[in-house]
Amino acid sequence: MPPVQSRETNGTNPNVTPNGCPFTGSTSTAPRRAQILTDHLRNKHLTDTLHLKATNVAPCSSGKCMGSVVRQREPFPPGYKRPKEEVLEQAKEFIDDYYASMKKENSAEHERRWIDIQAQVEEKGLYDLEYDELLYGAKMAWRNASRCIGRYQWNNLQVIDYRNVKTAQEMFDAACDHIRYATKDGQMKTAISIFPMRTDGKHDYKFWNKYLFQYAGYQQPDGSVIGDPANVELTEVCQSLGWKGKGTPYDFLPAIVSANGEDPVIFEWPEDVPLELELRHPKHDWFEELAIKVNCVPLQGDMLFDVGGMQFPACPITGWFQSTEPVRDLLDENRYNMAEIIAKKLGYDTSRYNSLWKDAAFLEVHIAVIHSFQMKGVMTQDPYTLTESFMKHMEREHRVRGGCPSDWVWIVPPSCSSLTPVFHQEMLNYHLRPALEYQEAGWKIHTWKTPPTAPIFTQYIRTKKRCSFKAAAMAVMFASGLMRKTLNKRVKSTILFASQTGKAETFSNSLCDLYKHAFDAKVVCMDEYDMAQLDKEQLVVIVTSTFGNGDPPDNGETFARALMQMKNKNGEANPRDSPLSSVRFAVFALGSRAYPHFCAFGHSVDTLLEQLGARRVHAVGEGDELCGQEESFRAWAESAFKSACLSYDVGHGVDMNEATANLLGSDLSWAPDKFRIIQAKTHTDTDILQGLSTVHRKNVVPSTFISRTQLQAPDSSRQTILVRLDTKDNEELEFTPGDHLGVFPANEDHLVQAILDRIEGGTKPDDVLEIEALHKKLTAAVVTKTWMPFERLPPCSLRTALSRYLDITTPPSPQLLGSLSMHTSAPSERAELEELAKGGTKYENWKFERAPTLPEVLQEYPSLQVPPALLLSQLPVLQQRYYSISSSPHMYPGEIHATLAVVSYRSQGGKGPVHNGVCSSWFNRIDEGETVPCFVRAAKNFHLPADPSMPVLMVGPGTGIAPLRSFWQQRQMEIKSGNGQGGNHGDMTLVFGCRQSQIDHIYKDETAQAKTDGALTDIYTAYSREPDTPKTYVQHVLYNQLSERVKELLKNNGHIYVCGDVAMADDVCTTVQKILEEKSAMTSAESEALIRMLKDSNRYHEDIFGVTLNTKEVREAARSVEPAESNAN
Ligand SMILES: Cc1cc2nc3c(=O)[nH]c(=O)nc-3n(C[C@H](O)[C@H](O)[C@H](O)COP(=O)(O)OP(=O)(O)OC[C@H]3O[C@@H](n4cnc5c(N)ncnc54)[C@H](O)[C@@H]3O)c2cc1C
Ligand SMILES: Cc1cc2nc3c(=O)[nH]c(=O)nc-3n(C[C@H](O)[C@H](O)[C@H](O)COP(=O)(O)O)c2cc1C
Repeated sequence: MPPVQSRETNGTNPNVTPNGCPFTGSTSTAPRRAQILTDHLRNKHLTDTLHLKATNVAPCSSGKCMGSVVRQREPFPPGYKRPKEEVLEQAKEFIDDYYASMKKENSAEHERRWIDIQAQVEEKGLYDLEYDELLYGAKMAWRNASRCIGRYQWNNLQVIDYRNVKTAQEMFDAACDHIRYATKDGQMKTAISIFPMRTDGKHDYKFWNKYLFQYAGYQQPDGSVIGDPANVELTEVCQSLGWKGKGTPYDFLPAIVSANGEDPVIFEWPEDVPLELELRHPKHDWFEELAIKVNCVPLQGDMLFDVGGMQFPACPITGWFQSTEPVRDLLDENRYNMAEIIAKKLGYDTSRYNSLWKDAAFLEVHIAVIHSFQMKGVMTQDPYTLTESFMKHMEREHRVRGGCPSDWVWIVPPSCSSLTPVFHQEMLNYHLRPALEYQEAGWKIHTWKTPPTAPIFTQYIRTKKRCSFKAAAMAVMFASGLMRKTLNKRVKSTILFASQTGKAETFSNSLCDLYKHAFDAKVVCMDEYDMAQLDKEQLVVIVTSTFGNGDPPDNGETFARALMQMKNKNGEANPRDSPLSSVRFAVFALGSRAYPHFCAFGHSVDTLLEQLGARRVHAVGEGDELCGQEESFRAWAESAFKSACLSYDVGHGVDMNEATANLLGSDLSWAPDKFRIIQAKTHTDTDILQGLSTVHRKNVVPSTFISRTQLQAPDSSRQTILVRLDTKDNEELEFTPGDHLGVFPANEDHLVQAILDRIEGGTKPDDVLEIEALHKKLTAAVVTKTWMPFERLPPCSLRTALSRYLDITTPPSPQLLGSLSMHTSAPSERAELEELAKGGTKYENWKFERAPTLPEVLQEYPSLQVPPALLLSQLPVLQQRYYSISSSPHMYPGEIHATLAVVSYRSQGGKGPVHNGVCSSWFNRIDEGETVPCFVRAAKNFHLPADPSMPVLMVGPGTGIAPLRSFWQQRQMEIKSGNGQGGNHGDMTLVFGCRQSQIDHIYKDETAQAKTDGALTDIYTAYSREPDTPKTYVQHVLYNQLSERVKELLKNNGHIYVCGDVAMADDVCTTVQKILEEKSAMTSAESEALIRMLKDSNRYHEDIFGVTLNTKEVREAARSVEPAESNAN
């Protein structure tokens, strides 16, 4: 039959693009050409001419390919009635093909039938297909279905004629019979049931379910879904029609059936109809624990059969599953999303994609699916078998028919792709009639006679024009209820955090649990955030701490910079532009009032977001580490959440008490039945470097302890030590003077032992353990309660965990005390611990008076017996300590030096027990040869000037001298080797501070030598406790002796370096400002602006260690703790 271009009218898509497909070059009007299709695996070729008969090549155009778009053809509009001319045209085409297929074209019978059809169409616009025509048409529709890989069976299709049914009940009964027939003995016959045809488009017979067997998806208030998330909308439709599911993850949805255009009726499936199985794996018995169910019957419910100009909107079709389909139902992220659960059960590291855990999960579930179907005797086909059959079919079709319309995107299986032949086969996709077409879901197009009395998706409610007042009122009511509900679903909230030691991250996770009650919430670290998304956000909640001297934490730096750039760019373009005008936000800032710039970074983000046009939904919150940080967070979180809900008009049904009850007591908080320890498969502890690398997500490498030297006089009450580490041959530990060394120390043995002595049960301290958590979070697991590996720590013994991975000296948080209280046998002790666990003033006083370590808490509450699982799951992780590297790599190649104050003090105003700093005391006791796990962190803002001729002023009292030593050593070496721009070095002035010249003037000889070598130009020392001399601090030296030099240095593009505790750094900064005001006649605003400029342009450098706890303000803020032996200047 010649190609008939005039038959291009297509009721389905009036917008045929004239430009045609970019790949075939075909257009709806241009002449089409034969197309060669190559099989790249076997280098064979097929020639497709069948596409010359295709109805059109839409929807591609010369500019775009729609190959991967699911709905390439627009569904027929509601109430569609095909015009008579089109009916006749398509009927003619069909009937000619039909008679040709029987080799009876142009026979008398053919002629008669065509006259009969014309008469019927003339009279009613319709005609009745005879059964054989229907059978032929249905087979051809399947044969033409370009996305179906199983159609090599097209000629075996069973067609069941139900065109005489009248009611929804009859339709449903017919569907049940169809399924019983098609699934008998698990053979899975391919069959199609055909119900009455469309007449005027207003009296359709229709199944509303896309697939007739689908599991319900119940949306929970926190946004999670029990069951299949793909079916949330349909589930809500069913519920609105009165259906009540059981609420389990595997409830079959009822069928929704509408007959003759009537309102739909729902039907529960009789027990003998659906076919499902419980998933089992041939090797992994634990699959049984997951209690996964799989539907065995693919039953497409909502296709429309378009044949010879007539349309059949109800034509359910059964077939059999390709084995990858149930796997996708279980693993796809928008379905049951079980890939991670399975991969973890298989022992994969799911924190890295390159462990290929997703592939492993897919493979094992695939094996389980094939195994379970086989055990149940139900037919399924693996992708290899199926694609081989399809390839043969394709070749045959080209031989006998001139082509085989195929959609590569759908034909290639979701796994094993390139291992199957179809992957390598070029395919041509086009549309032929008869066809099975997509339709709009029933609830989106149905015209209601009586709208349901429960909410349904109102935007879809179409009432008859003359509907009753009651019906209209009902629709309005649905609209308001549902509008809220849909909004509720849609509003996205991104919680962005930046954190140095982990608190802001913990707070953010807790906040996310809260926001999930009303928003679609997720948590992202600022460092990992795609800034291009910011202006597309709806609600952004920021939780961040402040570090350095008012700076962002490391993982907030990029975000801060990007935000600044955005502001500057915006300022240049149009200051009144508001790139973030559609964003709403709230900020919670963590910090410590011990620092002069309290919560500074949080505040600056808050201001920047506002300046960029974002709308603040709640005032910035502040959490002071010294006083009630968690309490402040809880209060802020609750009120900010309410403001956000109000702002978006969501969260109406949320029980605030319930939603906020668990703030900071997240899903991972302690409950005795939630965690358990198990013996690890291995008998040896995980290598400590590997373990630390995993826990801290950074590359932790070894260095070797060489020696320590006491730097203070032997009769000093304090100790400062020079530590030397061997870093030879370790590229990871290369550094530039000014960089930091991060160190992972160990806790003191006697503290570890004190805890081990109080362990509940018979856990041996040196047995290698793993911890598991009862997983409830993900939809399917809510019900199955699976024990999953809790990968906080690597497999190790309790002793190793307490010694190397967990923080046992920081005073326990209220949450931890609450968890401990559950394990006291004495009621009075329990009551006390519960009281402290409430946080608040009592807790704060207790914490600051005693600064109790965990062993001290155990001592204070003797009836406490601690479950090991509690320790392993709840104790905070022991954090790295940073040290400013104190040596030059040129003077000491293959070594790193640190200058350390050994922390040791008595709590309770000097009357309590001695507390030793974890890391400094560890360095003060380890032996030569011991491995020191560490890493180098670049301090980009604390490097020597690129141009060594620039004058340099360095201020570093006490251990603040540490990085300055690396600077003068570097210069000594440059001078010695004649490097450094021909020895043209600018002045290098050192201002050091300590208590007494004879006690703690560290590096006195070394600095003198550096001066002799010409590296240091001048050395100034401030003594704060020198007998018979006034108290002098570094800032006094600056002001009294170096004012002129400071002024000149800044004038000559010089650099100032300040290192040590934050209070000193602030005093120095204020002094420099004062000098500028006095010597350069600046106002305080001008001097402040100049300092800001110097910091921004990297000429005023600060290296801040933290707070020194013996300053008056901090002591007062901290209320009670009096250092027994202070350790700073
Ligand atoms: C960027 C950077 C660079 C640093 N460089 C150096 C350096 O070069 N040299 C150096 O010595 N340190 C340096 N530090 C500090 C160092 O990281 C550690 O904080 C310090 O060594 C203490 O660690 P620790 O494990 O010994 O004590 P921890 O176990 O951490 O104990 C310290 C904690 O104990 C408490 N505490 C301490 N003293 C008292 C007291 N008198 N009264 C009451 N409570 C008290 C405080 O809560 C304090 O935070 C640097 C810090 C940073 C952030
Ligand atoms: C070296 C150092 C510098 C700090 N600088 C500041 C500061 O400038 N301003 C402030 O408010 N807090 C400062 N802090 C306190 C932290 O912000 C506070 O400990 C916060 O609770 C840490 O939260 P995180 O665990 O999320 O990082 C500093 C803390 C350290 C150790």
